[in-house]
Amino acid sequence: MLPETDLFQTPLLYFQSDVIAENAAALRAALPDNGRLIFSVKSFPEKSLLESLKPHVDGFDISNSYEEELLTQINPSFLSVVGPLASTVAVDSIPGKSVILYQDHADDAISAGSHDLLGLRVRVTDYFQTSENTQIFTRFCFGRNELLKRLRSSADDIAFHFHAPDHRLMCVSLFSSFFESLQQADFALDRIRVMNIGGGWNTSNTDRLRSVCNYIERYVTAEIHIEPGAGLIHDAGVVICKALRKHTAGTQKYLTIDASPELHLRWSLPAFLDQERYGGDDEIQLCGPTVFEGDTVPIRGNFDVIKCGDLLVLSGLVSYSVSWNCTFNGIPRISVCVG
Ligand SMILES: Cc1ncc(COP(=O)(O)O)c(C=O)c1O
Repeated sequence: MLPETDLFQTPLLYFQSDVIAENAAALRAALPDNGRLIFSVKSFPEKSLLESLKPHVDGFDISNSYEEELLTQINPSFLSVVGPLASTVAVDSIPGKSVILYQDHADDAISAGSHDLLGLRVRVTDYFQTSENTQIFTRFCFGRNELLKRLRSSADDIAFHFHAPDHRLMCVSLFSSFFESLQQADFALDRIRVMNIGGGWNTSNTDRLRSVCNYIERYVTAEIHIEPGAGLIHDAGVVICKALRKHTAGTQKYLTIDASPELHLRWSLPAFLDQERYGGDDEIQLCGPTVFEGDTVPIRGNFDVIKCGDLLVLSGLVSYSVSWNCTFNGIPRISVCVG
């Protein structure tokens, strides 16, 4: 059910909280009893959505001080932290020291931040040059004496925190090489209190999630945390926008709308929700009002039936759209409504 059209301004991102609740329930069902489902705030840092997610998740994952500030308004019971924060309050909720095995960065330096998190960053290029997860983790985690020395000498419990942009890397073979490397290094596995296995989890990979969790439980009794962003919300929202202008150039068909693919639909491949009316095989470039040449995204539809002024509802929205939302060239931020 969409909101009454005279009650909102376009463009609007409209989320259905029941879809979010279903996604959360499916992911939770794949976790062990002591698992925690955490929402990764970077994928949608917006207050009304976070409020609506709160009853369905065990906590939130934040990565910068903006998200931290947003979360103080939500008052979550649990926070997971990767990036630099403004205060140490949130860090206090992290059990023991966290070792972050993160694979998004260009440098592979071990860093000990001001709040005493140990970080190990793995080079993306190196990571992808080999298909053998074993080598990668042996090389980048346990070849590094400093990290192991610090882990061994610290009396704290340890929270391991993994994340890779390609979620398929989060598989049983990764964790078998991880635990075996720790055992070879005489690291006491019972010191591991949390295994956070990052984002990328969604309703279509719950079988892998279940088998990874079962596998981890063979080695440790730690809580298993997941922190999906996209997987909780990607299919729960639509963008409601207006058709502003149509034109053709040669065989190319252009439709300008008041939402911006660059600012409001980032990483989306939209489709018309109303397929009966707008569905078709014409290749149409949806153009935003930013005057960027890159502010376009392809969509299939029936170009002739679309009239200027029509209200269009686009599905196929992925998350992260609001994360990139700015007011470049005077384009207003998209409004968000959770129903
Ligand atoms: C540390 C960390 N956790 C979780 C996520 C969320 O990933 P996704 O939206 O693919 O679930 C990200 C995304 O970059 C991340 O960097």
